[in-house]
Amino acid sequence: MPRLPSAPPAVTSVQRDVHRRDFLRWLAASPVLASLGGLAALEPILAQEPWPPARRQLEELVERAQDALDVFDLQRVAEATVPPAHYGYIMTGVDGESTYRHNREALERLRLRARRLVDVSRLDTSVTLFGRRWPTPIVVAPCGSQSAFHPDGELGTARAAAALDHLQVLSTVSSTAVEEVNQARGEPVWYQLYLAPVGPGSWEGATALIRRSVNAGCPTLVYTVDLQGGSNRLTGERWARLDDRDCASCHRPGGEASPVKPMLRGLPSGAPDPGLGRSTTWETLPRLRDVTDQNFVVKGIMTGEDAELSVQYGVDAIWVSNHGGRSEGAGRATIDALPEIAQAVGGRIPIIIESGFRRGSDIVKGLALGATAVAVGRPYLWGLGAFGQEGVERALSILTRELEITMRAIGAPAVGSLGPETVVRS
Ligand code: GLV
Repeated sequence: MPRLPSAPPAVTSVQRDVHRRDFLRWLAASPVLASLGGLAALEPILAQEPWPPARRQLEELVERAQDALDVFDLQRVAEATVPPAHYGYIMTGVDGESTYRHNREALERLRLRARRLVDVSRLDTSVTLFGRRWPTPIVVAPCGSQSAFHPDGELGTARAAAALDHLQVLSTVSSTAVEEVNQARGEPVWYQLYLAPVGPGSWEGATALIRRSVNAGCPTLVYTVDLQGGSNRLTGERWARLDDRDCASCHRPGGEASPVKPMLRGLPSGAPDPGLGRSTTWETLPRLRDVTDQNFVVKGIMTGEDAELSVQYGVDAIWVSNHGGRSEGAGRATIDALPEIAQAVGGRIPIIIESGFRRGSDIVKGLALGATAVAVGRPYLWGLGAFGQEGVERALSILTRELEITMRAIGAPAVGSLGPETVVRS
């Protein structure tokens, strides 16, 4: 189980055990021990060791990306290596983390119904989105500020996505400009659009940003609609309090990154547009669509009603998301929202889902309940923070391997073999 730090420890229990064991090894080999009365002096200490050594070894931090067995091995390394404020930014949800928890709990409540004696000698995990066939349904979700986790940043993620041919979506608040990321990816990524309060609040700014993504060749715009009301990210704030680095050298007062994120730098400021901030409504969609011929995806949909509206407003795909538990508190899990959204959409447009997917079996559950593809965020950020590009590649290949094993194990030779009958709620 991932440890979500509501009250983050300065030193993790894993680190504490590793340090303690190292100290005991050193003591056993040292002349100090002899003067204390030999090994017998250690016995009372060893008696307090919480686990037998073999068990403790299982919890050691992996030293190379290739040694990680699941994405949580990468998380543990990222927790130990990424500066606390930045690790907190990755991990934070909102309030007391109920939405973050609900995403995981709901996925874990679903069980797979395995079929037997099906020919799974050939496996087809490919999916098609807007005419592009992808060998895997696993999408690299848009996550901001990636150079805060490792110097490889978004370029490392792009090279990993290129090596394994995953669809990558770039955040408006990336630490690297879209043109450079496209070059590293070897083909244009999808572009995620924030408007105010996170992105531009003027029509001139919004249209300039969209046109920049068009000029960079991005075929698809992913308009994110789930942070319009702001979000109460307490876990992030708690972790930031542990960080004793001089934040002012990189951040302006108030937390704003300085210099302003590359995609927001130099945008025309223009007059605030009431259709682009807290008062945005569905009527903004046709205005945005008129600016671009890109495929238009709305990200952050959580109900059948909004899925129906999305289709009515001519959206090309829906992205089911509660922003990894970082928009509303007490929110519903995305996997619980998916069936009513799939029903409302009725196969008319593709559905992408994210938030809480950590295992190949989770991805199977999303595909079974109606998603065309499943996006992951934190798992590859853990890989990035732990080992840079190599860690992202490891996270993606772990998930791919788990997906393939799960599909074979339940007798599903292709994504099309998965359906609502594949899962049952416990
Ligand atoms: C930005 O996308 C965030 O969730 O912080």
